[in-house]
Amino acid sequence: MTTAALTVDPASAIAPVDRRLFGSFIEHLGRAVYDGIHEPGHPTADAEGFRADVLDLVRELGVTTVRYPGGNFVSGYRWEDGVGPKESRPRRVDLAWHSLETNEVGLDEFARWSAKAGTELMLAVNLGTRGVAEALDLLEYANLPGGTTLAEQRIANGSPEPHSVTIWCLGNEMDGSWQLGHRSAEDYGKLAAQAARAMRQLDSRIQLVVCGSSSRSMPTFGEWERTVLEHTWDEVDFISCHAYYNQGDRDLSEYLATPVDMDRFIESVSATIDHVAAVKGSDKRIGISFDEWNVWDIDRYHADDKRTAIDDWPIAPRLLEDSYTVADAVVVGGLLISLLRHADRVTAASLAQLVNVIAPIMTEPGGIAWRQTTFFPFALTSRLGRGRALHVALRSDTMETASHGTVSVVDAVATTDDDGVSLFLVNRGDTMDARVSVDLSAAGVTSILEAHTLWDADPTARNTVDQPDRVAVRPLDVVLSHGIAEFTLPPSSWSAIRIRKEPA
Ligand code: AHR
Repeated sequence: MTTAALTVDPASAIAPVDRRLFGSFIEHLGRAVYDGIHEPGHPTADAEGFRADVLDLVRELGVTTVRYPGGNFVSGYRWEDGVGPKESRPRRVDLAWHSLETNEVGLDEFARWSAKAGTELMLAVNLGTRGVAEALDLLEYANLPGGTTLAEQRIANGSPEPHSVTIWCLGNEMDGSWQLGHRSAEDYGKLAAQAARAMRQLDSRIQLVVCGSSSRSMPTFGEWERTVLEHTWDEVDFISCHAYYNQGDRDLSEYLATPVDMDRFIESVSATIDHVAAVKGSDKRIGISFDEWNVWDIDRYHADDKRTAIDDWPIAPRLLEDSYTVADAVVVGGLLISLLRHADRVTAASLAQLVNVIAPIMTEPGGIAWRQTTFFPFALTSRLGRGRALHVALRSDTMETASHGTVSVVDAVATTDDDGVSLFLVNRGDTMDARVSVDLSAAGVTSILEAHTLWDADPTARNTVDQPDRVAVRPLDVVLSHGIAEFTLPPSSWSAIRIRKEPA
C-alpha cells in the first residue's frame, strides 16, 4: 500500500472555475454529425432528425460549450453550403477526412441542436482556404439581428433570432502541414490579426481564440506561440492548446502519469504569454483555450490513413472510433485534474470530441447510444467541479517514470463553492492501493455527500454495443472525522468525493 496526505484550505484558491472548462467539440468528421447527433430515421429522432437519446447523454455529460464545425474540416469548409433549403445544398469533397459532405446539417441546424443540448456554441472560421471576407460574412450571418442581406438570409432560412456566438476560433492548427492552407507563424499571425480586427469591427462583443501549436511536440512549439501572440496581442482573448495522449508501448503506471505532460504544456504556454506581455509592457491577460484534448490512439489512425481512390468519397464513414478502457478514463480524469489546477490560465477547454469520433458517447445507426468509460470522469467533474479551484498541499509516495521523471503516485485537486468541497484524485500506481488522508479542518466540512471511484480489476475493460454497461463508477468508502477524510484508492483509479460544508 502507498500513502498520501493532503491538506485542503479554502483560503488557498487558484481561481474561479470557468464553466467553459467543460466544453466539447463536434466536427464534420466520420459519424460525429451524421449517424451521431443527427439520424432522421432513428426511433428517438425529433422533427429535425436529432437523436433524443444522444441529446439526453450530452446533457448528462454536463457539456457547457461545443466547438464546431472543425477541426481540420473547417480549413476547407464553405459555411454557405450548409445554410438555406436542404434540397439545393451542394455535396462537396472533404479533403481533411477524405469523405463526402452532404451539407444536410449546417450552422442553423447545429445552433438549434446546441440550444436543445443546453450548450454554448463556439464557432471556428476557415483561415485555411479562405480569409477575412468569408469570416466577416459568417459573423454577419450568425450575429447580426437583421437589416443586412446575410442577416435577412438567416431569418429567411428559419432562424429569426441571431445565434449570438460569443467565442470564435481563428482557424484550426494552422502550424500543421496536414492543414489545408497551413502557414508560417509570421504569415498566420498577420492573417489572424487582420481577421480579428475586422471581426471586432463588426461585433465588438466577441471573444477570439488564436491558434497555438497543434501539439507540444511540434518543432515550432514555443516560437510559434511567441510570434503569433506578438502579431495578435491586442486583438485576441485566448491562445489554443491541443493535446492527444495514448499508452503506446509504455507501461500502465507511466501512461497514467500522462497528465504531467499537460501540466508542463500549460505552464510553457503561460510562460510564453507572460513573456510577450512583458516585452509589450502590457497588463492584458490572454487565457488558454485548451480546445482539443483527449486520449486518442493517433498512431493507429496514421497507420490506417490510406487516401482512397478518386471516385471513393464515403459519407459518414467510421473514422477515429476509439473504444476506451478503464485506464484511458483514469487518464482523462487526470487531465481534468490538470485543467482545474490551471484554472487561473485555462478558462476554456473542449474534450475532443463528443459523439462517435474519439468520443465519450457512441451510437449505432437505428440502435442504442452508450457511455464510454471516459464519460464518467467528465460528467462527475463537470457536475461537482464548481466554484473556485483550490491548491492542494500534497505529500505522496513517488514513482519513477521514463517520460516524466519522478512523479507523485497520488495526484489531486479540489474545488469549493457555497455548499461544499469537491475532491478529485487519481492513483497512478498500477499495483497497489493508496491510503489517503485529507485534512479539511479549515473548510468547515460536516458530512460526505457522495463518493465515487472508477476502477476495475481489468484496466482494459470497456463498454461496447454488446456490453454498454460493463464499466461504471462504484461507491468509494470515505470516513470523515474531525475534519479529516480517510479512504483507500484502488490501483489505476480515478475518484471524486463531494463533502458538505457549514454555510458561510
Ligand atoms: O479531433 C481530431 C482532429 O485532431 C482535429 O480535426 C484536428 O484539429 C486535430 O488534429
